[in-house]
Formats: sequence, C-alpha cells, structure tokens
Amino acid sequence: MSPIHEQNRRAWDDRVRRRDWYIDTARESDFKHPLAVVDQCGWLGGDVTGRRLLCLAAGGGRHGPLFASAGARVTVVDISPATLALDRQVAAERGLELRLIEASMDDLSMIDPGSFDIVVQPVSTCYVPDVARVYREVARVLVEGGIYVSQHKQPVSLQAEAHPSGRSYVMVEPYYRNGALPPATQGFWHREAGTVEFLHRWEQLLGGLCKSDFVIEDIAEPRHADPQSEPGTFGHRSCYVPPYIKIKARRVPIRTSLASNLWVP
Ligand SMILES: C[S@@+](CC[C@H](N)C(=O)[O-])C[C@H]1O[C@@H](n2cnc3c(N)ncnc32)[C@H](O)[C@@H]1O
Repeated sequence: MSPIHEQNRRAWDDRVRRRDWYIDTARESDFKHPLAVVDQCGWLGGDVTGRRLLCLAAGGGRHGPLFASAGARVTVVDISPATLALDRQVAAERGLELRLIEASMDDLSMIDPGSFDIVVQPVSTCYVPDVARVYREVARVLVEGGIYVSQHKQPVSLQAEAHPSGRSYVMVEPYYRNGALPPATQGFWHREAGTVEFLHRWEQLLGGLCKSDFVIEDIAEPRHADPQSEPGTFGHRSCYVPPYIKIKARRVPIRTSLASNLWVP
C-alpha cells in the first residue's frame, strides 16, 4: 500500500476515534425506510431484495447496514479498519449479515469478476490519485447491465477557498495540476483534515466512466445550499460552490474498440 493510502487509512481511523464529520452510523429512524435513505434519487428502482451489492469505500455503519436491512446481499469495502468496525457493530446489533473487506478502492483483486449487480460509492475518489483505476476495478466486479452509483467532490469545490473573501469565494487552486492538493486544515467542511486529497477533472470523472465501459444514465447535484446561513458555513458556501456530483452509470458490454461509436445492444 502506498504512503498516500496509509495516510488516508490513519486519517479515517482517527476520524472514527473522534467521531468526526462523515462518521454517522445509521439512526434508528433510518431503518424505517432504509432504501429511501441511501437511494434518495430512486435510481435503484425501489427494490434491492437479493441483489448483490458492493458498498465501496463506504465503511462507517451507515450504507452497508441500511442496504442489508433493505434486503440486499451486501459487501462493504473500506481502507479503514475502524470504519469497518462500526459496520460490524451495527450489523451485530441489528442481526444483519455483512461481508466486510479491508482494501483500497483501486485494487479489488480479491473480488471475482462479475460478483455484483450494484456498486454504490459515497464521496471518496478524492483520496486516490488515479480515478481511472477505480473505474476499471468497478467495471470488472460488476455484471454487464449492473449499476454503479458514485458521488464525487466537484473540482470547483476543491479549487475555491473555504471562507469568503468579501462577497465571493475566490478560486485559489489551479484546475490543471499534478499531485495532491495542499493539506486541509481543521474547520473545512468540504475537505477532511489529515487526509491526502486529489482534484479529478471532469474529463477524468465523467470521461473516465465512458472509457471504462459505462454509460452515464443520470446526474444529480445534491443540494446543501442554505441562503439563510452565515458566510463561511458549508450551507453558505454551497450557495456559490456546488460541493458534490452524483452519477448513475450502467456497465455495458466491453467494446472491442474504443474508437467505435456504434452501439450494438
Ligand atoms: C466520506 S466517507 C464515506 C462513507 C461515510 N461513512 C458516509 O456515510 O458517507 C469516505 C470513506 O472512504 C474511505 N477511504 C479513503 N480512502 C480509501 C481507499 N483508498 N480505498 C477504500 N476506502 C477509502 C474512508 O475510510 C471513508 O470510510
């Protein structure tokens, strides 16, 4: 495992110990309509019973237990053993079955090809330098026709400063760049202090999916904007800078030639 992966694992283990932002296990009320909580866009068709579902980079006692409670056969992959321990704890409390794997999203070699019908990945590709490797791995472990729902940090959110200068949020980071972003400090709601993060451009986030044998079926930009909130808060910043994008993609048959633009169902 690379030093980047090691650092991110330690950072997320620490976040669990501190019960930081993003470490919210599912609440009692979430289990009343679990699928509605984890599939707010309704992209999974309202029923995941019996479906083989991978929650990728999704430790923390939320996604895995809720999908399992909705009837899916769930595997959770995460690099942080502490987040997986939360899944183990919630699953034990609720009598749910979960398969837990400690691994990095860009190396799923322990999983057989075509093992899943659905892959769901919360915001996390920012922690790896090469998003294309993640897409290749997801394409490999999904069946043809399988659905991949992923959420990502929008590049502009990683470019703009955390707090407003006057009325606006100034762009301080270049779009075209090599290497990691400067470390985030505490108090950034759009970044996680202690982690190593990367900005992925649109051609990498969207084009990368198309190049990895997916077709994009839908896009959503989850709303966090709150016009009533104070300058410098996440709600205020989100009025100007969209934090996330959510993508619904479908795994299509492997194309023999990338140059081919003929769709043969
Ligand atoms: C924003 S959290 C997502 C899960 C969170 N519990 C939620 O409810 O949205 C990001 C997750 O990515 C995981 N992570 C970071 N780097 C990873 C990597 N290279 N491979 C797999 N998981 C990784 C972290 O341990 C963390 O659990």
